[in-house]
Amino acid sequence: MENNKPNTDGVQTSGTHKTCWTETVQQRAFQKLSEDVKCEVAVIGAGISGLTVAYCLAKAGKQVVVLEDGLIGSGETGRTTAHIVNALDDFYSEIESLFGEEGARHAAESHTAAINLVEKIVIDEHIDCDFKRLDGYLFLHPSDEPQTLDDELEATHKVGIHTVMVEGGSMPGISGVSGPALKYPQQAQFHPLKYLNGLADAFVRLGGKIYTQTHANTKTMKDGYIEANGYKVQPEYTVVATNSPINDWATMHTKQSPYRTYVIVAKVPKGAIEPALWWDTGDQNSVWPTMPYNYVRTQPYNDQYDLLIHGGADHKTGQANKEEELEEDRYQRLETWLRQHFPQAGEIVYRWSGQVMEPVDDMGFIGKNPGDDKVYIVTGDSGNGMTHGTLAGILITDLINGKENPWAKLYDPGRITLKMQSVKTFIEEQYSTLSQYVDFLLPSDVESLQQIKPGEAAIVGRPKKVAVYRDEAGAYHAYTAVCPHMGCVVQWNNDEKSFDCPCHGSRFTCEGKVVNGPALSDLEPVKVPEQ
Ligand SMILES: Cc1cc2nc3c(=O)[nH]c(=O)nc-3n(C[C@H](O)[C@H](O)[C@H](O)COP(=O)(O)OP(=O)(O)OC[C@H]3O[C@@H](n4cnc5c(N)ncnc54)[C@H](O)[C@@H]3O)c2cc1C
Ligand code: FES
Repeated sequence: MENNKPNTDGVQTSGTHKTCWTETVQQRAFQKLSEDVKCEVAVIGAGISGLTVAYCLAKAGKQVVVLEDGLIGSGETGRTTAHIVNALDDFYSEIESLFGEEGARHAAESHTAAINLVEKIVIDEHIDCDFKRLDGYLFLHPSDEPQTLDDELEATHKVGIHTVMVEGGSMPGISGVSGPALKYPQQAQFHPLKYLNGLADAFVRLGGKIYTQTHANTKTMKDGYIEANGYKVQPEYTVVATNSPINDWATMHTKQSPYRTYVIVAKVPKGAIEPALWWDTGDQNSVWPTMPYNYVRTQPYNDQYDLLIHGGADHKTGQANKEEELEEDRYQRLETWLRQHFPQAGEIVYRWSGQVMEPVDDMGFIGKNPGDDKVYIVTGDSGNGMTHGTLAGILITDLINGKENPWAKLYDPGRITLKMQSVKTFIEEQYSTLSQYVDFLLPSDVESLQQIKPGEAAIVGRPKKVAVYRDEAGAYHAYTAVCPHMGCVVQWNNDEKSFDCPCHGSRFTCEGKVVNGPALSDLEPVKVPEQ
């Protein structure tokens, strides 16, 4: 298995572990920004959201520039599992109760349109990315009741998705599932980085410009430009597609919460498992309001093997200890489940974690940034970022072109959803964030710096304010542990070798370099504390 030696530059991806995507395709790099530029639209972020928005705008004749901190797909799109679905994480029965029948129908229409758009782009632009249409199966987590599936059957039919109730035992590939399951036709999957590379090339063919290793600073936007690598980018419109929006200081970060989610990948003999997508309905007894679920798919690998990709075991970023199961221990939970349900699973060849943004009212945010007229954001895509990022391409292009779009209200970042479920989740998530501020008062993670093993780190001091990383050679490096966003104390994530902020999900490499917003700057170096 690949190891997780610290990757300190944060350029290739937002964690230390390699993924089966980053390991099987070369991520595209373009030139760094090295002059001032003017454009109609600047898009910040070259994940699926940023690149799809850029492509759709360029198709509509706009002059677009993309600014990317790392390489193509350096963010969560390089760490995804890429189920491309209109079977939404939070279920249509729930969406209908929050947004009414029309809202649920728009959710289904827009995600279905996104699957179709991916397929169209693959065909039109000749992108060889293992795109495949296939069925998805939703089955009960042992803690859940059949009523969940009955409700979802009814709700999906109302919105025009032709699900069918089947026997769990009749699902292809998977074993040991009794009870009912819901079959979703016409879902899809692909290799996300092959797709992104193809999308980036297609955008450039349309006359678009991409600058990689170009860090955008949105603080200067109030003065009419974006500072990037020391140069000025002056757009008429800006689209912030950085997953967690880096332009927003507080508003959007009270409407969504960052969660880590984990993936293991096993080899299976080629053709041993019929391709499908499988998900359970989530742990109803979880300490997390998101009720994490298991998700599985296959992927062609080489002449002898396919890959079996299994995700789950989510927790709120920086708060893994709330379940007394540290980040690096979560893969074992996944492996036990995988071997029970897929006895064909062989050697585990990859493992990694990534971050998803969970909105308090289940739907993502695409549209004008609250309070700004010419700034648009895409965020809050939960575990449905492939379709959410793609439908952002359609929606933001319409919004910038002044064209009415029936989905705009559902995804409006300025919306307030005052239904009981979302208010309860809001209160739970805000409590969990605010309670992190008392971390300053807790004892140091270690009594002396010698207890920190090479390649690991700890948060120390009284108050607890210094992040100390001990490199592989044994030397200590110290940074402030106070997150530059809103002052929470970061936590050490020994699995991805990063400092993770438990409040709004900013993340920093072991050398203090920011790899995930909302923080825009690094952890400041400080003097190594006395031993
Ligand atoms: C383990 C895992 C499994 C998942 N499984 C699925 C799935 O099966 N199906 C699904 O639909 N979704 C899934 N998701 C969610 C999905 O992967 C994400 O929602 C989606 O990839 C987000 O895309 P994005 O373009 O919005 O963000 P990203 O891909 O994170 O792109 C944002 C980009 O912005 C760049 N950036 C950040 N700050 C700056 C800055 N200051 N200047 C310049 N650039 C900057 C980053 O480098 C990054 O490349 C999963 C996520 C994870 C982590
Ligand atoms: S991410 Fe908000 S305080 Fe750290």
